[in-house]
Amino acid sequence: MISKSLEELMNEQVEKEAFSSNLYLSMASWAENQGFEGIADWFYAQAEEERMHMLKFVRYINERGGKAIVPALEKPEADFPNVKFIFDESLKHEKYITGEINNIFKAAVEENDYAAQNWLQWFIAEQFEEETSVQRIIDKLNIMGDHNMYIFDRDIMSMRGEEHGEQ
Ligand code: FEO
Repeated sequence: MISKSLEELMNEQVEKEAFSSNLYLSMASWAENQGFEGIADWFYAQAEEERMHMLKFVRYINERGGKAIVPALEKPEADFPNVKFIFDESLKHEKYITGEINNIFKAAVEENDYAAQNWLQWFIAEQFEEETSVQRIIDKLNIMGDHNMYIFDRDIMSMRGEEHGEQ
């Protein structure tokens, strides 16, 4: 059985993961409208991953005897100044999410909830991977500058494949 306070924290995380999904969906849609198909696909895939994170929390709360709540969501921004901006914002957002996951983990430690600590390890590893992956993209964008967006847009999906160990 999960504690009430951990249940509340995890339900707040359900909302944050769902918002992340919508935020990346909005960025995907913006990129698609700008003609950046590769960047759009990258963010569409990211939106799916965040939805999967949300579902993981929903199911875990319920499995541990809590009650998962499906939240109303704040509307994400629909317009962005440029490609670099959306990746910078993504990194900032992922760092915030990492901090929130760490807070939940800290609560699980304080409560001696070893099962929750074990379960949360997946998210800790996932956050590390997500931050690293967005940082690598930003590094590439910094090298390329504002030019060569056509090439960047063409190459970005293969960068995603490399990070997920695909060929
Ligand atoms: Fe689910 Fe990207 O944090």
